[in-house]
Amino acid sequence: MGDILRSAGPLVCVVGARPNYMKMAPLLRAFAARPALPGVVLVHTGQHYDLAMNERLFADLDLPAPDLNLEVGSGTHAVQTAEVMRRFEPVVDDLKPGCVVVVGDVNSTLACSLVANKKGVAVAHVEAGLRSYDRAMPEEINRLLTDQLADLLYTTERSAADNLAREGIDAGRVHFVGNVMIDSLLAHKARATPPAQTFARAGVGADFATGPTGFGVVTLHRPSNVDSPDAFAEAIAALVDVAHRVPLVWPVHPRARANLDRFGLATDVAKSRIAMLEPQGYLEMLGLMSDARLVLTDSGGIQEETTALAVPCLTMRENTERPITVEQGTNTLVGRDRARVAACVDDVLRTGGKRGRLPELWDGRTAERIAAHLESWLDERAVAAGRG
Ligand code: UD1
Repeated sequence: MGDILRSAGPLVCVVGARPNYMKMAPLLRAFAARPALPGVVLVHTGQHYDLAMNERLFADLDLPAPDLNLEVGSGTHAVQTAEVMRRFEPVVDDLKPGCVVVVGDVNSTLACSLVANKKGVAVAHVEAGLRSYDRAMPEEINRLLTDQLADLLYTTERSAADNLAREGIDAGRVHFVGNVMIDSLLAHKARATPPAQTFARAGVGADFATGPTGFGVVTLHRPSNVDSPDAFAEAIAALVDVAHRVPLVWPVHPRARANLDRFGLATDVAKSRIAMLEPQGYLEMLGLMSDARLVLTDSGGIQEETTALAVPCLTMRENTERPITVEQGTNTLVGRDRARVAACVDDVLRTGGKRGRLPELWDGRTAERIAAHLESWLDERAVAAGRG
């Protein structure tokens, strides 16, 4: 049976943007460990391209260089999505994939799923079924549509199956497997870069984070927080308040960096106990988060990583597509209201905050489960098609 699968078209694995890499790395390893599976072709759409947003993470995660880079770069949602589709279509024509594997919820995820589906190629979506129920989030639209297109939906938490059922998706396509991002975290935790090294490299004084309160980590890049001057100013005011209580380190995403300058907010930050860093590598971020007293973020992945690290996470949003991190993990939704954020920070500093527990199947073996399932699914399909 394995020979038949290997002679089928390859598994075309797609990455586009930073949060995709830590999800794809364990999958590539798990696919390689199953010789019966078809070969893998790694396609990078080029949505992210900066050294700090891209190559550094590839190196940290031991990801192989992509076999193909579509080099789409930045653009409006329409331009970026359309450009990925235009450039991915000939790849599908050429490679005739046995399956296209997509992860997460970025524009590249949706664009490649749509191309594959219209060509009659099976799509496997890893991290399916998460919903914030906030349709103003570009990622929510990507999630909804990718899940409608996917043949295999691999989920990270049980609530995802309920979301998908509500959207009329056949439960037979949905498989609860756990969280590949946590596979990466558990595999790399021991190699995390000590924060002192990260501070030294960034020119942040050694005494910055060694006070009695320790330090907090900030990440902020959602359009809802950083794209409007009012929202971003409100978020900065909340962070400046927090920095009176605990010094903060903030690896600044390029989208946030550009808007800090555009809205004239950079000086407020510079005057406070907030150290702005370049976007960091995966091992640096793991080190910073592991040792942080608390993390303030609007990222999706970081809500999960802090839960796995048992570090309190204050999410500067009004909703989350990852409710298990609130129910079982260390996550609290705080929005960006100054008083609310300050009260939550005070609580963490006083009590240590939520400790949480590791959600079901976040055990470091999710990619193995996906690889095993994919192999048997492709086998069954080959048999059904009379090729077995
Ligand atoms: C994208 C994803 C988001 C994810 C985030 C992680 C979508 C809709 N959004 O948002 O879900 O959480 O990645 O970073 O897919 N830029 C650079 N260098 C780069 C890439 C981007 O400078 O390597 C700048 C450009 O000015 C660009 C802007 O960042 O216009 C935004 O990039 P884009 O890929 O459109 O969205 P992100 O905000 O990064």
